[in-house]
Formats: sequence, C-alpha cells, structure tokens
Amino acid sequence: MKYFKPFIILMLAAFSFTSCQKIEPIAVIPEPSECIQKKGHFSIDEQTILCFGNIGEEGRDIMKTIRESYPKKFKGLQPNLGDEESAGKNSILFAINEKPDETLGDEGYTLTVTPRKVVAKANTVAGLFYAYQTLVQMSYASQIAGNGPYSVPCAKIKDHPRFAYRGAHLDVSRHFFDVDYVKKYLDMMASYKLNKFHWHLTDDHGWRIQIDKYPALTSKGAWRPERSKWDTLHPMSPDEPATYGGFFTKDQVREIVEYAAARNIDVIPEIEIPGHCSAILYAYPQYACDNYPYVVAVGPYWPPKAIMCAGNDEVLRFYKDVLDEVAELFPYPYIHIGGDEAFNDNWQVCPKCQQRIADKGLKDEMALQQWLMNEIEQHLKSIGKKAIIWDDIVSEDMVNKSTIMCWQGPQAAIIAANHGNDLILCPTSHCYFNFYQNDPDKEPLAMTGLITLEKAYTFDPMPEGLSEKAQKHILGGQCNLWTEFINTPKQADYMIYPRICALAECVWTDPAHKDWKKFQNKVEMHTAYRKK
Ligand code: ACM
Ligand code: ZN
Repeated sequence: MKYFKPFIILMLAAFSFTSCQKIEPIAVIPEPSECIQKKGHFSIDEQTILCFGNIGEEGRDIMKTIRESYPKKFKGLQPNLGDEESAGKNSILFAINEKPDETLGDEGYTLTVTPRKVVAKANTVAGLFYAYQTLVQMSYASQIAGNGPYSVPCAKIKDHPRFAYRGAHLDVSRHFFDVDYVKKYLDMMASYKLNKFHWHLTDDHGWRIQIDKYPALTSKGAWRPERSKWDTLHPMSPDEPATYGGFFTKDQVREIVEYAAARNIDVIPEIEIPGHCSAILYAYPQYACDNYPYVVAVGPYWPPKAIMCAGNDEVLRFYKDVLDEVAELFPYPYIHIGGDEAFNDNWQVCPKCQQRIADKGLKDEMALQQWLMNEIEQHLKSIGKKAIIWDDIVSEDMVNKSTIMCWQGPQAAIIAANHGNDLILCPTSHCYFNFYQNDPDKEPLAMTGLITLEKAYTFDPMPEGLSEKAQKHILGGQCNLWTEFINTPKQADYMIYPRICALAECVWTDPAHKDWKKFQNKVEMHTAYRKK
C-alpha cells in the first residue's frame, strides 16, 4: 500500500503546521450517509464528561462497552461520567431521541461535533454505539500524530445503514480459533458497524461446540492429528494421536454471545446438514449410509464422501436434539443449517435413502435434500427459530421457505428472491477473504482465487435485474473466512483486514456515496492507527 503514503504525509503536515485551524480529515469507514465538515475541532481530554441520556435498561451493556473501551480508544483517558443534565461544555452526550426519527431506522444516528461539545442521538442504543464508533474513527488523524488531547473535527453527520444484515463469517473447524480470538474478531466487526457474526462451528475437520446429549461430538469429533501443513495426507491412520483441535464449552459460547450482544452483534451458529459431517460420523458412525470408516478430516478432503443418511429417522432425531441445545444458547432468530456441497453418491445406493425418496414421492436426491432441510426448518420454526441455508438447495420448485445464503453467484439469488425467500449475499467473486488478496507469487499460501481490496470494494449485495418486490428480499451481505490455509490469529487478521473495510462500506453505504480513491486514503489512515 505504498501509494497511500503521500496522503498520510499531507494530512499529518496539515495537522502539524496549521496550528490555529487544524485540518483533520474525516476518515470514517463505512462512509456515512451525510457528513458536513465544519470549522474547528472538539478536544477530548481528562476533563471531558461522557454523558448518557435516556438509554434504559436494555442499553446498559452497550454503554458499558463504550465506557470500558474509551481508555483504550483514547489512550489512557478515563471517562468522567454524567447524565443528560450534566452535558454542558466539554461533554460527549449519547441520548436516545425522545421522539423517534423515522429516517434513522433501528441503527442510524446523528452526530454533531462543535468546539464546545459532542451530541450523539439515535432511536436505539445500537445507533448510539455506532455514533461512538464514528467518533473514535474521527479522532484517528489526531492519534496518529501522537497528539493528546484528542482532536475531533467539527461536523454534522447523519448516518444509517443500507442493509440490515451486515455480516462476517469465521470458520473455526478447519483450524480452531479460541475465545480470545473470536472476541478480537467481534471487536473488529463492531468497529466497522457489522452486526451479524456467522460462526461456522461444524465441518469435516472438527466439531466445535459442546452438545450434552452427544458427548462424542467433542470428545472424538473435535480432534485430529496435528500436521504441519494443510496439504499433507488425509486420512489419519488409526494409531496416530489426535492432538490438534478444540471446542467451545457452553459457558464459552454464552460468554461470546454476551460479548457480541454488547457490541450490537447477533451470533448466528452454523450446524452443517447433511454433508461436511466426517467429524460427526467419526463419533457416531451409525448415522452414515454405509460402513465406511469415517475419520475427522485431516487436510484436503475433496470431494467429501461423508453425508448423513437421510433415510434414517435417527439422523433426524440427532439433528433436532442438537439444534434444541444450540437454540438455547443463541437468543436470536436465525440458525444456519448448512446445506452446501452435499455430495449425494451414498444416497444414490443407500436402500434407506431410496426408500425415503419413494415414500415421500420425491423426484431425486436433490429433492431428498430439500425435503430433509425442510423437516429441520419446520422443527426450527416449532421452537421459534428461522433457518438459513446455503444456495445449493435452490431450485424453482423448492419447498424451502428459509433464508438463502448465496455464495455461488447471482443466478441462484435471482431464483430464490423471485421464489419469495429472503437472501444474504456472499459471492465467491467478492466476499471470500480466504482467497489471495494480491499476487499469489508474493503472498502466503491461500485458497486459489484472487480478491484484491479494489475488487472487494466493488461488491454490491443487490443482484441486478430484480423486480422491486424481489429486491425487498435482499437482507444484506457478508464476508467469509474459511480457514483451510489460515492457522493462526495473525494470518486471520492479515486475510480479513483491510478487506473487511471494503465489505463494511459495501453493505452500509449507499453506492452513490462510495468513492474508491477516498476509501483507499481512509484505509491508509486506519492502518496507520492500528499499527500504533
Ligand atoms: C461454501 O463455500 N461451500 C459455502
Ligand atoms: Zn442413506
């Protein structure tokens, strides 16, 4: 990112040499809907009072997050706390609008910075939390210059998101990432106003969540032999010690859900059905169609033969039991039930699966998968939850009413939207941040494919050619971080940042306000801040 240097130098020079009127750039990601920069600045110092007005009980956790993060964001400053009445000179007020402002919706906010004080208003605590993120980012120029008190340029900002669903996914199966890293990931998401964490908890390479009724999922299914490289041989041999892995206990899951909630992030767990299940079949081989000795996958495993038997009622019982326990841990509407890359060769020759096809009058194995997913969907509905399913199940005549997560391109999205399903977009063309981000010859090993920062920035979650009615089904988009070639937190950070900034702007900002050149400059500013 060498080409960003002149911008930083220019900005810091402006900051350093114009003492009576500092020019600090407003480098907020994602770009706000409306931002009018004014003369002057507000200085955050030891005397600044942080005031909260009218936030109610439900706002306490998010406000606590602001209070606790303040000394970290404004290095070393402890906040003086006050209420709305004490919000006079040298104060930052966060207050809920007494009369809701319809134009702000559930997550928008207004932020007014004058030399005397800062006032953030919103209809919800989520909006106030985002006003705080904006304020922090507005101080970056001052912080990079090493200045305290921290200076924030005067401005009038009105901001709200384009999409309600703004997500980031993390695969903790291919490689395991612990509670500390998940929290770090959530912090990064929150700072860029992303609000849905898609937690890919189960796959061929390890089952990562405690389920009391099926303890072998974690005692056996969470572990595999440690290999130094992803491309070394599958499968494990019976005498190899299974030393690599891990899983989240229920208490750890609760801790993460609470941490996310205090940052306006819903956690969406994914339990893969019916494929990507080697770890399950290692623990419970009776759920397979055959007697093949399945093991937790070690390294590349493609195409995955493992699939749960859709003709076995015990398999349905298993999934429903697992989802009942999962549902109790996640107080949100959605549970992701997978559905991608379910290679059904086993089903084609399994007497039980063929019997199910005959009994239900299904036309083929694809219809069998749609039937199975629909059974699970209906079960989720009966316990007050909604299903998200990968777009592999989409067809014109599908029975499924679930929300579809589109990773394969616009065609399935258009069919599903016209079919009346809600949609989340995360196409491999723009949103797979496990792909290379630069010249593969100069980068650490990654998944084949190239998504540069510039390419990521051109993502538009709204597919072309949808009717107005179908457009209403587009909930938003997300980036995906599959971790086959990502085995350390450092590498995960390297792959996700700064492309996550591009994703954030694509799902929050109206396309009319996107500007690639300006975005590059902002990223340079953020990168400099993060390095401090
Ligand atoms: C996927 O990338 N298999 C959803
Ligand atoms: Zn079967």
